[in-house]
Amino acid sequence: MQQLRKIIFPVAGLGSRFLPATKATPKEMLPIVDKPLIQYAVEEAIEAGFKDLIFITGKSKRAITDHFDSTLERFSNVDDKKAKLLDEMNQIVPKGVSCIYIRQGEPLGLGHAILQAKPVVGNEPFAVSLADDLIDSEPGVLKQLVEQFNEQQSSIIAVQKVDQSESKKYGMIDSNNLDSDLVKLSNIIEKPDPEFAPSDLGVVGRYIFTNSLMSFLEKTTFGAGHEIQLTDGIKLMLKQESIYAFLFSGKRYDCGSKLGYLMANIDYGLKNKEFGDELRNYIKDLV
Ligand code: G1P
Repeated sequence: MQQLRKIIFPVAGLGSRFLPATKATPKEMLPIVDKPLIQYAVEEAIEAGFKDLIFITGKSKRAITDHFDSTLERFSNVDDKKAKLLDEMNQIVPKGVSCIYIRQGEPLGLGHAILQAKPVVGNEPFAVSLADDLIDSEPGVLKQLVEQFNEQQSSIIAVQKVDQSESKKYGMIDSNNLDSDLVKLSNIIEKPDPEFAPSDLGVVGRYIFTNSLMSFLEKTTFGAGHEIQLTDGIKLMLKQESIYAFLFSGKRYDCGSKLGYLMANIDYGLKNKEFGDELRNYIKDLV
């Protein structure tokens, strides 16, 4: 099996749930404390050993491209603290890691976004990371998935237990044996009504695929919302190849929703060395 080097970040989505904040700012640039969501996702990918970071961008997403450039000027009279911060910022993307930007010219869905990376992915396996899903874990969830991929030599999808009443927010999976952390998929359904959810395992935005997903996505027809759905591509693939779901360890925040986003800011704020204790006292007084 070829080494995993490539990861796709679909970042062309409009972010309409966060209007007006996302009118001119990409939703992936919304900060959790002081770091944009997309940077958390990129750091997780780098920790897992990915070298080619492929961003599928679209209208009003220029800030993401700018963010990963090393353009901060060195000022001559900055103090040590500021100089350290400037250095850190110029090292977000270390040597040996490349950022590649591809436009998704039309908003035709997640599956379509991933397909735009086909010429760059070539015949290699690849990962997909959705930055709205912020996952706090040690090691990072992509690193956990890479380990599973190397062992299984098959596609792996991150899942977590979700309240079945929330199934309409997720791709929901099924398996003949739901008793372990790693289960073989028997079915996947995009955002079913709770009564049609096959289990309580919902897909979270981290995936590793063998290269053949690209050819299945090419065969995928327009599905829900007149979009090419990743879930429909996975469903086609399932007829030919084994796919596994991995119940990762870590806490996931749905930063595509306002509540999840605020929860992430509170939890990351409480962990902050500079002002975490002050924030804790403030919240205690408040409630
Ligand atoms: C996408 C996928 C869905 C998955 C979810 C995870 O949906 O289509 O299968 O469960 O990401 O966040 P979205 O949230 O982009 O509508």
